[in-house]
Amino acid sequence: MQDKPFSYTIPYPGFKPSRVDNHLQRHLSDLKGQFSNEKAYQTLLKKEDVLLYEVYEIKRPEVEGEILMGISIVHPGKVGNEFFMTKGHFHTILGTAEMYYCLHGEGFMVMETPEGDTAVEALAPGKVLYIPPRWAHRSVCTSRQQDLVTFFAYPGNAGHDYGTIEEKGFRKLIIDRGDGIEIIDNPSFNE
Ligand SMILES: [Fe+2]
Repeated sequence: MQDKPFSYTIPYPGFKPSRVDNHLQRHLSDLKGQFSNEKAYQTLLKKEDVLLYEVYEIKRPEVEGEILMGISIVHPGKVGNEFFMTKGHFHTILGTAEMYYCLHGEGFMVMETPEGDTAVEALAPGKVLYIPPRWAHRSVCTSRQQDLVTFFAYPGNAGHDYGTIEEKGFRKLIIDRGDGIEIIDNPSFNE
């Protein structure tokens, strides 16, 4: 049987697509060991297992030829001086790309390759970001009040490798310096 074309809308504000097949929520406890300030992490976690980000997925078969889409919403907040962020991942099939279209808020996409190349791109409404094959990616919300909202699309067979990032971290961190935002080398990156 052949699928029929379909469409859906992403309403403003709210950004919850009119078609949602899966709603994923990641809390502070899901990012154990990912923030650089472990003491600040534990203090915040004791107070509340706060919601860091959520994803609305439009499901398609996870096979070559398909395109997987969704909306990612990273909420504002910090652990110590590090902004709320997504877990970040490589694609299991490294040779698969991804594209993001920023709809709302402000933030950054932190990226790196297995070979150690790094890149950080600012995200703002209207901005399109193309992430070539091989680049791990993590979104970071740097607004103090607003969610960072992006639409994403990537190949159906890409898969997610979260383990490499959980083990090593990213080479770059986005921190609040008080008088501005700074991109720094991750002091606890595991080579
Ligand atoms: Fe991805």
